[in-house]
Amino acid sequence: MTQAQIVFDGESLITPKAINSELASARADLHYDQVATGRAELAIILKIAQQQIQEDLEPAKIIHRLIASLNATRAKYHPNVWQELIPIVQNHPVADYFHQDPFTRWSFVKPRGYSGDAHLIDFIYGHASVAEEVANASPLGRTLFEYTRNSPSPVAVRERRDLLTKHVDAIAAEKGPGTEILTVAAGHLREADRSIALKNGGIKRWVALDQDPQSVGSMTRDFQGTCIEAIDGSVRGLLTKSHKVGTFDFIYAAGLYDYLADKVAIKLTQTCLDMLKPNGSFLFANFSREVPDDGYMETFMNWALLLRSEADMWNIIHASAPKDKFSASVEFGANGTIVYGMIRKLS
Ligand SMILES: C[S@@+](CC[C@H](N)C(=O)[O-])C[C@H]1O[C@@H](n2cnc3c(N)ncnc32)[C@H](O)[C@@H]1O
Repeated sequence: MTQAQIVFDGESLITPKAINSELASARADLHYDQVATGRAELAIILKIAQQQIQEDLEPAKIIHRLIASLNATRAKYHPNVWQELIPIVQNHPVADYFHQDPFTRWSFVKPRGYSGDAHLIDFIYGHASVAEEVANASPLGRTLFEYTRNSPSPVAVRERRDLLTKHVDAIAAEKGPGTEILTVAAGHLREADRSIALKNGGIKRWVALDQDPQSVGSMTRDFQGTCIEAIDGSVRGLLTKSHKVGTFDFIYAAGLYDYLADKVAIKLTQTCLDMLKPNGSFLFANFSREVPDDGYMETFMNWALLLRSEADMWNIIHASAPKDKFSASVEFGANGTIVYGMIRKLS
């Protein structure tokens, strides 16, 4: 599929272009005076970074300042103006410096053709599968990686993985060995690595669905001989009921809703709620509107996400889960970068 053919329908591969067209309102909204001011502001920010690089300032200090500046600039301008400013950063010569970080580079280059693939997330997890790429990076690249992997979003993503493991284990403890779990957009399912319930045979069936055959292959290999069934499947497949997977005690999606427009997010939530057993739970995670590294991610990493506020999460819940049939809550992770919607079927 070419980039031009990509349809933002919850199944197609995710690109910044698709996200941006979702984010940007009509081009007529473009505030031309703001674009000129924004350009000038960015030119100064990037010039300072360039000077600091030439002066051999500590990489952590350079990137720290840059991440804060990009976050502030992004917040200051209309989203349409910011979209116009992104290519200025991406095409600036300082990009070569930051792309020495293997994590930033993988995100920017998108070897799998879409944003947020499971190998990228393995950089965040510090998984062995990325060890060679990290080892082959330049010393500067490794130093930058040490900084980027510990910036707020990756910290929140590692917490998300651990929270998912806790939820799985808690549900298995509550429901017993008949527990059935569905992971939507499972990636490499790294949260399963530390699950005690999985290790102790406390789960009957754990279906892990992903649209990327490479990720499905990785799960099949890694979890051979366990109750985990990796399935090559998509959100569209779930919405059209083409995956006959049954019903579950726990269904969750992490790292997916950030790419789904509200309409698809609501449909997917309704579909997942229909697949819950009585007293079953559904969880969906989304990056919040408070992402301090958002400007860096959208520029040097070319990693655009649909950020959601607490109210946005409630809107999805209210549109999907009738109050007489479900209870729900919305909670933030420890650093506020990721927000979680949790819905429980009442009977
Ligand atoms: C950011 S990764 C998250 C992986 C994993 N859930 C985690 O938390 O580490 C996003 C995953 O969503 C998958 N994905 C994206 N869009 C999808 C879709 N429409 N249907 C199924 N999987 C999808 C991608 O293939 C990728 O593996």
